[in-house]
Amino acid sequence: MGEFLQAQHISLYAGTRKLLDDVSLKLAPGEVVALIGPNGAGKSTLLRVLTGYQPPDQGRVLLSGHSLDAWSNEALSRRRAVMRQRGGMAFSWKVEDVIKMGRAPWPAADSAAVVKEVMALTGCDALAGRDFCQLSGGEQQRVQLARALAQLWHRGQPRGWLFLDEPTSALDLYHQQHVLRLLRRLAQMGTLAVCVVVHDLNQAALWADRIVLLHGGRLVAEGTPREVLNEATLQHWYQAELKVFSSPEHPVPQVLLKP
Ligand SMILES: Nc1ncnc2c1ncn2[C@@H]1O[C@H](COP(=O)(O)OP(=O)(O)OP(=O)(O)O)[C@@H](O)[C@H]1O
Ligand SMILES: [Mg+2]
Repeated sequence: MGEFLQAQHISLYAGTRKLLDDVSLKLAPGEVVALIGPNGAGKSTLLRVLTGYQPPDQGRVLLSGHSLDAWSNEALSRRRAVMRQRGGMAFSWKVEDVIKMGRAPWPAADSAAVVKEVMALTGCDALAGRDFCQLSGGEQQRVQLARALAQLWHRGQPRGWLFLDEPTSALDLYHQQHVLRLLRRLAQMGTLAVCVVVHDLNQAALWADRIVLLHGGRLVAEGTPREVLNEATLQHWYQAELKVFSSPEHPVPQVLLKP
């Protein structure tokens, strides 16, 4: 089928500094992949390359078998959406109009119904009519998520590749759980690939099918949460003192920092 987004031996330089070093990665609809790693590891940079905003210096990114630079902007916008780490907006726009911006690639579709649906899913319906600039950080984050989902909504469900850079960083506990459960459920519908940067390793353990650990621009570990989130790996790459345990109720690794 070739329905993958595939990075092949990606390297990227800034002057003589290597920001990404021979990274290969495959993202398929149906799964949630968590991108983890210390500050400055290259997670946001990798997202820029995977989404086509930054061409790599070496290697290539293929979407459904075709190099990203062979896709038109319009066709690419229908297949992948991005929620950035710093998604600020300087304009005074109503919440529903920000979300509607996500529908730009679908001019002929019935976008009002889609906007309504993604607002309900993300809990943004309670924010209808509000000025985006006046929302709290967490509220803005949920609106940005709704916008990205609206962009990929087609024939009744989200389709394509959704990239999120720390989408829960400003969310309270209820909304962290709500958003991550939602992303998982949408991915499980089978037509959406979710690639999410997170710092909270416990969130990654609970909701990701696969974890990719970056360090110094290199992919240094990859696998299921059980395979990647062990004490030796985490202590080595994060240089933090921690314990990893598994609760009997949810048999996934959970990480506890030592005081
Ligand atoms: N345009 C650039 N020129 C030079 N260095 C850059 C550039 N963009 C990013 N970097 C550097 O590349 C490294 C990776 O940055 P990146 O933003 O990808 O890290 P990150 O893993 O997302 O970190 P964080 O967890 O803090 O968000 C950092 O050291 C950063 O300073
Ligand atoms: Mg980042």
